Amino acid sequence: MRLKRTVTCGQLTTANINQEVILNGWIATSRDHGGVIFLDLRDRYGKTQVTFNPDQTPELAVEAKRLGMEDVIAVRGMVRARPDGNINSTMPTGEIELIVSELEVLNEAQPLPFLVSDRESGSEDLRLEYRYLELRTEELQKIMAMRSKTYESTRRRLSAEGFMEFETPVLMKSTPEGARDYLVPSRIHKGRFYALPQSPQTYKQLLMIAGFDKYFQIVKCFRDEDLRADRQPEFTQIDIEMSFVDQDDVIGLATRIARGIFKDILDYELPETFPTMSYKNAMETYGSDKPDIRFEMELIEFARYAEKTDFAVFKDNLAAGGRVKALVLKKAADKYSRKVTDDLTAWLKTYYGLKGLAFVKLEQSDFSAGISKFFPDDLQKKIVSDLGLEHNDIVFFVSDTGPRTLQSLGALRLELAKRENLIPKDIISPLFVLDFPLLDWDEDSQRYIAMHHPFTSPNPEDIELMESDPGKVRARAYDLVINGYEVAGGSIRIHTREMQSRMFELIGMDEAEAQARFGFLLKAFKYGAPPHGGIAFGFDRLIMLLAGTENIRDVIAFPKTTSAASLMDEAPSWVDEHQLKELHIKLLD
Ligand code: AMO
Ligand code: AMP
Repeated sequence: MRLKRTVTCGQLTTANINQEVILNGWIATSRDHGGVIFLDLRDRYGKTQVTFNPDQTPELAVEAKRLGMEDVIAVRGMVRARPDGNINSTMPTGEIELIVSELEVLNEAQPLPFLVSDRESGSEDLRLEYRYLELRTEELQKIMAMRSKTYESTRRRLSAEGFMEFETPVLMKSTPEGARDYLVPSRIHKGRFYALPQSPQTYKQLLMIAGFDKYFQIVKCFRDEDLRADRQPEFTQIDIEMSFVDQDDVIGLATRIARGIFKDILDYELPETFPTMSYKNAMETYGSDKPDIRFEMELIEFARYAEKTDFAVFKDNLAAGGRVKALVLKKAADKYSRKVTDDLTAWLKTYYGLKGLAFVKLEQSDFSAGISKFFPDDLQKKIVSDLGLEHNDIVFFVSDTGPRTLQSLGALRLELAKRENLIPKDIISPLFVLDFPLLDWDEDSQRYIAMHHPFTSPNPEDIELMESDPGKVRARAYDLVINGYEVAGGSIRIHTREMQSRMFELIGMDEAEAQARFGFLLKAFKYGAPPHGGIAFGFDRLIMLLAGTENIRDVIAFPKTTSAASLMDEAPSWVDEHQLKELHIKLLD
């Protein structure tokens, strides 16, 4: 190229007037004002107006007129102050323009599938197919810059805390627990497979045994699971592990890192210590293990009232060991017509397996509509006074098994808050959820599974319950929750062979299976394993919060769709017969 840039498109100001410079970039807009051609030239630093004047450079003006959006050009010219009426104070380069004396067309672009200046001008599928064009949009350019800055902030702050950065294998042994593994067939070892890591969990524990007491890695993890708005099949963690620490040390470190990142990227001050809440409390109060505490609207224990109603559903469920909980939406009953409550009920039935959603509305200080007829007068009065109910409030009730009652009301709480705009937008509200159960009962396999992962240490106070009442054992596990997102999760680990074997046994893994899957770790525990623990941040979720987006695809340069496909390069794709043969693989029909 003849004209190599001397400055970027975001940098010129009135301080540069009368300087001759060269700019390289993409044509963002083109305007013809009576033969004078104005182009906005764009690169990732900004936009500069470049002007072709037909009186001074007639051939160039003709050539410039012919150029189209997203053509890549180079221009040499003189920086001039814009005439008074043309000043654009909304952009940093808005007071100057470049009067072009030389033009080099570096590459012309075909007509575009959507407008780079308007992200909404193409469907998401189209934008994903042309992701490199979508990445040119101002919104994604900003998010990618933010993401890059966050890597830098993370590395700087963890290094300052004395952490060492590692890389661990991407081809590892398959040890499925939780999500499905992505498998990679081995050519050399017929019939054997590597797995892509769901996280570097075992490696980081082995590094503790190796004596690297402060480990971190910014690392890709792979999980073959159902995808959602905040879940991708490959995602990034800030993975952290420490030796000779207890839960408070890990939480302290995670707090400092989270505070540091929000300070560096948004100049936002998170509190010096984050509030904590037990898992049990989070579930009871918010119906979620990742409560959004930016707004109140707490779930109300309703059994003591429900048993005095004449509503058979409540009484039958309570008699069968179920629960009744309530949720009050203030001053909005008039917006909840029959159709709206029917739709909410249908939604909860479909996604949470509920049998129904009951409600009453407040008409002055009396119950009306819904199931109001099942409440005797004196009971109504008591409820109105206990719960501070007012005219036009609506109270929703769910009665089901404990877990279903909590989970569905938690979902309803979020849905109502979104509909009614109850969530303050500019607040970042972190908390640690603590005291997770060690185990979770899995109905499908009729056994306990590890709630976090099987390397998580039980709470020492509950160890005696491990065999007698395993469901009651609390783990030394913690999640960092911000604005309703699980942003990080971790635990203090088991570090003795005996306890690790006991844990495997609890989740129905016999000695032979434990050896086959995790023999390498159990062996390592024999040679001096320090007490250790750690945490991993979901890096992409962190960027979602920093960028204020609810779509994880916005924060990953080349994301996958919810069916785990890449629309741009068409992965996953078919492979040649001979590739399969080499891998000893035959496809079933
Ligand atoms: P965990 O499974 O909780 O813990 O993962 C840690 C964090 O990673 C993020 N995350 C995801 N982000 C995007 N897409 C996904 N599919 C996805 N899955 C998880 C979440 C989560 O909090 N080895 C342990 C950590 C430890 O114990 O130290 C682990 O992986 O933000
Ligand atoms: P029914 O008597 O079955 O017509 O139900 C009366 C109201 O109670 C309807 O609004 C149902 O959706 C609701 N309902 C039914 N089952 C439950 C339940 N388990 N929990 C809460 N509300 C329910």
